[in-house]
Amino acid sequence: MLDRLTVPSREKYWSAAMNNLIKFAEKIKGFLDPDEGKRLYEIAKEAALHGPCLEVGSYCGKSALYLGTACKESGAILFSIDHHRGSEEQQPGEAYFDPELFDVHAYAIDTLSLFRRTLQMAELDDTVVPMVCTSGLAARAWATPLSLVFIDGGHAYETVLADYYCWAKHIVSNGYLLIHDIFQDPADGGQAPFKIYQKALASGRFKALVQTKTLGVLQRI
Ligand SMILES: C[S@@+](CC[C@H](N)C(=O)[O-])C[C@H]1O[C@@H](n2cnc3c(N)ncnc32)[C@H](O)[C@@H]1O
Repeated sequence: MLDRLTVPSREKYWSAAMNNLIKFAEKIKGFLDPDEGKRLYEIAKEAALHGPCLEVGSYCGKSALYLGTACKESGAILFSIDHHRGSEEQQPGEAYFDPELFDVHAYAIDTLSLFRRTLQMAELDDTVVPMVCTSGLAARAWATPLSLVFIDGGHAYETVLADYYCWAKHIVSNGYLLIHDIFQDPADGGQAPFKIYQKALASGRFKALVQTKTLGVLQRI
């Protein structure tokens, strides 16, 4: 039993828990910075009190770990969509191709088994709903209001635009639209996510909150 002197302060306890989450996340393949993951977690923790969250782009589960842990703690669920065949830039010969993720029998990328392993190891099987299909297919019959949508799927302009049209309309008021890989300067990276971020702002339905590294954060007005 803990005595009075061995009980850590609330701040110490939470910062140790966050450090453990970051340590775990760093072992998972992916492109999310730890500060971005921490912000995902913090926003999802609050958002999830008001309904389910959804992400486009599960990959091997790095972002799902942060979002899913927050959802679990808030008693909500996370829908995580990915066809698990990789984005354009992850195909053989492209800049982000990872040979370890190539299934020679299917002759295609396959990230589903690693994604499932992450969920199992993080004890998130009771919180995350994997949806193995394209974002467009999942959206066709969607009717559930969402407290948070995280867009981190394909990075071609048409793909990010389709994700925005498919999912932004389901966000409840005061809910969040998060977009990864926002680069104001084209010298730093592709412009498609930034253009969609600007489009969302121009719609008048979202306001911008502070950005964390390349994680754009918008809140539904
Ligand atoms: C950048 S990765 C996602 C990274 C992940 N969020 C993380 O934290 O590690 C992009 C993922 O989106 C998936 N993807 C690309 N276009 C998609 C689409 N139209 N529908 C569903 N998934 C898609 C790819 O298969 C890939 O796994």
